[in-house]
Amino acid sequence: MKAAVQHNYGPPADVFAVEDVATPTIKDDEVLVQMRAAGVNWADNSAATGKPYVMRLGYGLRRPRQGVRGTDIAGVVEAVGSGVEEFHVGDEVLGWCSAAFASLAAVPADHLVEKPASLSFEEAATLPMAGCVALQALRDVAGVEAGDKVLINGASGGIGSFAVQIAKAMGAEVTGVCSTRNVELLKALGVDHVIDYVETDFTEGAERYNVILDMADNRSIAQRRRVLEPGGTLIPNSGVGGPWFGSIGRILRARLMSPFVSHRLMPFLSISKRDDLAELVRLVDLGVIQPVVGKSYAMVDAGAAIEEAGSGHARGKVVVTP
Ligand SMILES: NC(=O)c1ccc[n+]([C@@H]2O[C@H](COP(=O)([O-])OP(=O)(O)OC[C@H]3O[C@@H](n4cnc5c(N)ncnc54)[C@H](OP(=O)(O)O)[C@@H]3O)[C@@H](O)[C@H]2O)c1
Repeated sequence: MKAAVQHNYGPPADVFAVEDVATPTIKDDEVLVQMRAAGVNWADNSAATGKPYVMRLGYGLRRPRQGVRGTDIAGVVEAVGSGVEEFHVGDEVLGWCSAAFASLAAVPADHLVEKPASLSFEEAATLPMAGCVALQALRDVAGVEAGDKVLINGASGGIGSFAVQIAKAMGAEVTGVCSTRNVELLKALGVDHVIDYVETDFTEGAERYNVILDMADNRSIAQRRRVLEPGGTLIPNSGVGGPWFGSIGRILRARLMSPFVSHRLMPFLSISKRDDLAELVRLVDLGVIQPVVGKSYAMVDAGAAIEEAGSGHARGKVVVTP
């Protein structure tokens, strides 16, 4: 089978090539999924470049131990392990795995849910990571309630485009921050207010928010606390930072400061959960959320797709197709 493979770290567009690799063998509790589309995430860029360097403790010190990237998959069941009863050959599914940029991927059955009929494979492949981060941030970390004022910084990207829709569904009054070219997209997603960061710095405005979910994370904590209501929650949610430790310093600072200030400073690590994926599918079925596929690349251009997803300026989600 074919896969986009990297043997070294470097600029994603340079280090990936499509190669013939062995078809994965599935365990009893796994499903072999024929990839129809794979979502691209910031983490794929981090693994491709090997930065921040501290992440190489997991990826492999000098070169990646595992050369196929991609965690979000949508596709068709090709085979099932002997212990899998829930899925059958031909089922359309989506979920998360460890090597999605390939013709076939072995996926634990409990990482999969049925694909909603209303979504294309490309749309379905956007859901697993970005959708779960948005859902968990707003529901579990911030505890958004109807009537809350929620500001999403980086609202037009992969996580932000889901967060805007989920926050609206929770009954929040939503402000989205993006650049000029994405203002119309945010209006179409249903935001109540748009701030174009090219013209306006949201930390200097008169408005106060109960929750700030921040994928850009480019203002100081003090600047963002200035526009939080008393007791409000700031979720800094960017891995971007120095070449060695990325955002780890910022995360620690926020966590250490949080108990001593009047706001909750809550960077968090999202963990993929099947129940949450099922909840996202339910919201899709209800017509509450609609994935935004910004750009689709063929697998031969997986490196370029990963580069775009790591650029900090993706529009909606980037996906890869076979
Ligand atoms: N907590 C977790 O467990 C977790 C999990 C996954 C990812 N993450 C983090 O999430 C981040 C990526 O999020 P994503 O995938 O949604 O990113 P993305 O798809 O790259 O979107 C980023 C968005 O931010 C906007 N943006 C860029 N500069 C901005 C600025 N100065 N002010 C406001 N908006 C700005 C961009 O819009 P324009 O193009 O209009 O500038 C773009 O739409 C990464 O840093 C990653 O580490 C966290």
